[in-house]
Amino acid sequence: MNTAFHIIDDKSKTKVRSFLKNLTLVNFRNYRYQRLNFNQPFVIFSGNNGSGKTNILEAISFLSQGRGLRNAKLSEVKTFDFLIDKIETPTFINNSGWAVSALLERDSEEYRIGTSVESSTKEIDFNESKEIDRRVVNINKQKLSSQTELNNYISMIWVTPQMDRLFQSGTQNRRSFLDRIVCSFDTSHARRLSSFDNVYRQWLLLLKEGNTNNNWLSSLEEQITEIGVAIACARKEQIDNLNIFMERYPDETFPEAFLALDGTIEKLLNDKPAIFVEDFYREALKKQRNISFLNDSTITINKTDLKVIYKRKNVPASFCSTGEQKSLLLSIIISQARRLTEYKGFPPIMLLDEIAAHLDEIRRDALLSKIYEINSQAFLTTTDEYDFNNIKQHAQFFEINNNSATEIFLK
Ligand SMILES: Nc1ncnc2c1ncn2[C@@H]1O[C@H](COP(=O)(O)OP(=O)(O)OP(=O)(O)O)[C@@H](O)[C@H]1O
Ligand SMILES: [Mg+2]
Repeated sequence: MNTAFHIIDDKSKTKVRSFLKNLTLVNFRNYRYQRLNFNQPFVIFSGNNGSGKTNILEAISFLSQGRGLRNAKLSEVKTFDFLIDKIETPTFINNSGWAVSALLERDSEEYRIGTSVESSTKEIDFNESKEIDRRVVNINKQKLSSQTELNNYISMIWVTPQMDRLFQSGTQNRRSFLDRIVCSFDTSHARRLSSFDNVYRQWLLLLKEGNTNNNWLSSLEEQITEIGVAIACARKEQIDNLNIFMERYPDETFPEAFLALDGTIEKLLNDKPAIFVEDFYREALKKQRNISFLNDSTITINKTDLKVIYKRKNVPASFCSTGEQKSLLLSIIISQARRLTEYKGFPPIMLLDEIAAHLDEIRRDALLSKIYEINSQAFLTTTDEYDFNNIKQHAQFFEINNNSATEIFLK
């Protein structure tokens, strides 16, 4: 068979692999209990629409830092029963929550990664308390003090059908995509982002309430400035590195992309020292104290956009065809995966939801051979398992039916 996948030279493969040997889901979306064993670099889940393919990728994504590939609330993940006779409101089955666990093999060491939800009671006021859900993570049965520690064991990259519209959707989606790239390299970035949101919200609230306490406002502006410029620096550093990397390793199938940050603070950092940018940001915030200016202000890192250019054609991604946009997205993803492998010393696990859509056979096979070369383990979903016939000797197939996945063998 003359497909792009077969051009692989096994010797060029990255040596270290990062491999899930099994996966267990308990009360996770449509799965009450599911146990799967893996022994191949490609694991393919097939099934009808709504059968639960993406749910399995989401479960795997919870083995990394954050809220998973759907950015879900913890409470919506737990299996619910529909009360068929009554109004169709989901009721959650019990209080035991959900859990995902997997055995990870890396550098011939094994790690049992487990995650579940823990409820704790938090006193919010005198005589008043509230149940708070928190995701806890264990490695080899030891509870991690923070999810950030997971980055030492595993890294993950995902592509979902929602990302097909990345270059045409609102700036929020591209900013999240950008920040996810940064987070994969810089483990403090997620914490910086949530601290920023927290102080920025406090500052806005004070302004909305008409509070004129200068000391209080100045103290918040100082924090916004400090964290904001750190966020902008981290974004700039990772995007610059990714651009250099893409230029150094051009790809014959996926077009080279050029990434640029469209944000006042990030742009200023191109030719001004961080200390100058901090002063500028602080002054800008002070001027924005008049609430009427707030809606128009772009001088803040939470409005930054990620611009992507199809380099050879010098055309913005949003003007490219659907297939070109998908190829550009994959070009960024492959570069991120390669750079992560170099940076961390082990490859990321790839979650590719409905990746075959908009990709011709040549590109699909080229993508799979690059993943194979990086030595990533990839979990893929499809409605037609024969889309992946060309890689069947490296792949394991599971069919999902009635909320359960069963291994199948292609003829
Ligand atoms: N908390 C939950 N408890 C039980 N079932 C849930 C829960 N959340 C979602 N589901 C169910 O999971 C199913 C969707 O699963 P999923 O998105 O994985 O399907 P899919 O196979 O990827 O479908 P498609 O091919 O359309 O992308 C839906 O039927 C939905 O009702
Ligand atoms: Mg799906």
